[in-house]
Parts: sequence; structure tokens; C-alpha cells
Amino acid sequence: MQTLNHNLATYDVVILGAGAAGLLCAATAGQRGRRVLLLDKADKIGKKILISGGGRCNFTNLHVNPAAYLSQNPHFCKSALARYTPQDFLNLMRKHDLSWHEKTLGQLFCDQKAPAIVEMLWEECRDAGVNLQLNTEIDTLVHDGEHFHLHTMQGQQIRTQSLVIATGGPSIPRMGSSDSGIRIAKQFGLKNIPFTPALVPFTLTQTMLEGLFAGLAGVSTPIAVSCGEGYFREQMLFTHRGLSGPAMLQISSYWQQGQAVHIDLLPGQDALAWLQTLQKQRPKAELKTVLADVLPNRLAQRLCETLFPNRPLGQYGDKLLQSIATQLHNWELTPAGTEGMRTAEVSLGGVDTRELSSKTLEARKVAGLYFIGETVDVTGWLGGYNFQWAWASGWCAGQVA
Ligand code: FDA
Repeated sequence: MQTLNHNLATYDVVILGAGAAGLLCAATAGQRGRRVLLLDKADKIGKKILISGGGRCNFTNLHVNPAAYLSQNPHFCKSALARYTPQDFLNLMRKHDLSWHEKTLGQLFCDQKAPAIVEMLWEECRDAGVNLQLNTEIDTLVHDGEHFHLHTMQGQQIRTQSLVIATGGPSIPRMGSSDSGIRIAKQFGLKNIPFTPALVPFTLTQTMLEGLFAGLAGVSTPIAVSCGEGYFREQMLFTHRGLSGPAMLQISSYWQQGQAVHIDLLPGQDALAWLQTLQKQRPKAELKTVLADVLPNRLAQRLCETLFPNRPLGQYGDKLLQSIATQLHNWELTPAGTEGMRTAEVSLGGVDTRELSSKTLEARKVAGLYFIGETVDVTGWLGGYNFQWAWASGWCAGQVA
């Protein structure tokens, strides 16, 4: 005899995580007529969207392309990014009368600020009949080959055909971020790449902070920086703990403990030719004086107090001038570490993409199980790339889940 369980709720699709990827996925699946339940352990939706871009949400980038994403399989993101493009998200914003502006390097920010983006995504979900349940965590999760059975910590039983994991990554743990995605992947025997912090400021040793870098906190300068396959031309900011600013955040995703980063303080210029010309024109001018014309004054002073001997230009021999020029273009610096998950904007790693279909984000071994957004081993550059991956992967899974 079969007993009827009145506490059992059944859905076509359950999505764990009401962040960027989960919200767009829920709306997309709901628009297909699927009965969707969107669950989140937090007390509100889209928390990371709300704090993004200093509250203005850098929601996409006009230059989105697969080369702007790091993954053990760089080809994986191609399909989703081609199927749901920045223009698709802009169309959604137009539909909701939202406007935007380009700040720099293709980065698009919402004129009506981040809450308007969350409101737009929620309206799409609500109009598509999506059920939302906050403050909810999963206690047990079982797959019987056909359905997923979820038991919540709040005592609910939920049965669903499709289960989408959109729990993001563990960066900024004070926001309730978690590595749930990897834990669920492990439960189903799927491989993963451990999460590590990315887009994160560097720390320096105390000796460096009290030596060369003393008094530089707050100074910012345009540089080019490289490490491994990464190369960026943006601002660098000296901080009380080390180095930050867009250039350093970007290169941190390519950096590994113990490696040096190479900083070009005068990108696009020929430091040697410039110094040689000045040596003829102003032989009495001191190095720190002429450097202060092209670098922030405090930085020019510190370099001449620590790295370079400061003299009138006329007193430098060819070899020394050459070595100063080389250092200005290739200042090799080994950070002590990074500030870690505490301040990382995203995380590298996640569910191994070889376990997933690049078109649908469905697990190859477990029909009906999907992983989207930051949970997957796809990490974008700074500048709207990570949200575009969240939208694109969420939309692709929402088409089929
Ligand atoms: P996201 O983190 O958005 O959502 C995951 C959701 O899952 C959360 O709501 C969480 O509560 C929930 N959850 C976690 N574990 C759970 C569990 N076990 N059960 C139930 N729910 C669970 N990117 C960009 O492109 N432009 C930008 O301007 C910024 N700015 C920015 C600023 C700061 C300070 C940070 C920390 C990050 C950014 N980012 C960004 C990165 C961007 O926020 C990030 O890439 C996306 O939010 C990832 O979207 P997801 O939906 O994958 O995860």
C-alpha cells in the first residue's frame, strides 16, 4: 500500500542558489512552462549582484570572448558565451527600461544601479511563475535514477526531475558564500578543481612594506603587468598590505605562490631613449626629479631612495642608465601572497568542465543534474566577464533543464 506524503512538493526544476546564474536560469526555465523552485540559504536574492561594481553592477563587457576566461579547458566556455551574448542581456535591460554606460575597456554599468538588475531578474522570474524560497538549506540529496529527492533542514521534502546547482564560489565568506557546488559534485562522483582565490589583492612581506614600499599606500599609477600567460595594462594601487588596483587584481588570477610578477612602470614608452635625451638636455637634473614627471612623486622618490642611486643625470654611465631603464620596464616583484578568499572577487576552480556538456551544462554522468555560474571551472577577467558567464551558463541550462 502506498502512503501519500503531504509534506512532499514536486517540481520540474529545482535551482539551488538565487544569485546571478540561478536567477536567469530560473526565469528561462519558467518561461518554458517548467514548474521551477528557486532555493537559497540566504535571506535575500542576488547579494553579490547588489555589492558588485561598487553598487553600480558592472553587468557585462562589450569585449566578451573566450580568451578572457581561465579554465583547465579554455574551449569549454565558447558555446554558452556564443549562445547568450552581452547583446542578449542588453535586450533584457531594454525590455525593463534600464540604461547603462561604458566606463572603460568595454565595461558596462547600470545607470539605475545594482538593485535595479536584481529587481529585473526577479520580475522575469515572477512573471514566469518561479517559486522562491529563501532561508532554506539542503540536508540530504538523493537521486533515484529518475528524480532528485531533497530534504531541507527545515523539514521539507522536495522531488524534482532536474536539479541545477548555482551556489557560486567561496569568495567573501562573510556573505555566506560556499563551496557547496564542489561538495555536491563530489557526492555524484564528478571531478573538481579546488577553489582558489582570484581577482584578489597581493600582500607583501613586512620587510618590503617597511622598505621600498614605505609611505606609498594610496599611490596609484598606470602600468603593464605580466605573469605567466597574463598581461594587463591598467592601474596599480599601493595599499597598506601590498598591491591592488585593476592591474594587480587581474594578474592575480594568473599568479601562483612563489612566482614573480613583472611590472612595466612606463608602458608604451622607451625609458632608455627618454633618459638619454634628458641626460643631454638637463644633465644637472636629478633622476628623482625627472622620474616625478612621469610617475607619481612619492613613487619616484621611493625608487630613488631604494632601487636606484639618485644623482644628476649627467653623472650616470651608459651601463647604469641602461639598468635603470630595464628596471623601469621590468620591475620583478615577488608578492608574499594574496589576501585570500576574504577579499577575492571570484574564485578559480570548480566543477571540472570535462564532466559537463558545454552546450547545456548538464553532467555527462548524471542526467538532469546541471552546474552553472561560478560553481563551474570557468573564471573571467575583471570587468563584467564573470556576470556574463553567469548569465550565459544560466540561460543555457534554463533552455533544457
Ligand atoms: P552567486 O554568488 O551570485 O550566487 C550564489 C548563490 O547561492 C547565493 O545567493 C548564495 O546565497 C547561494 N548559496 C550558496 N550556497 C548555498 C547552499 N548550500 N544552499 C542554498 N543556496 C546557496 N562580476 C562582474 O562580472 N562584475 C562585477 O562588477 C563584479 N563585482 C563583484 C564585486 C564583489 C565584491 C564580488 C565578491 C564579486 C563581484 N563579481 C563581479 C563576481 C560576481 O559577483 C560573480 O561572478 C557572480 O555573482 C557569480 O554568480 P553565481 O550565480 O554563480 O554565484
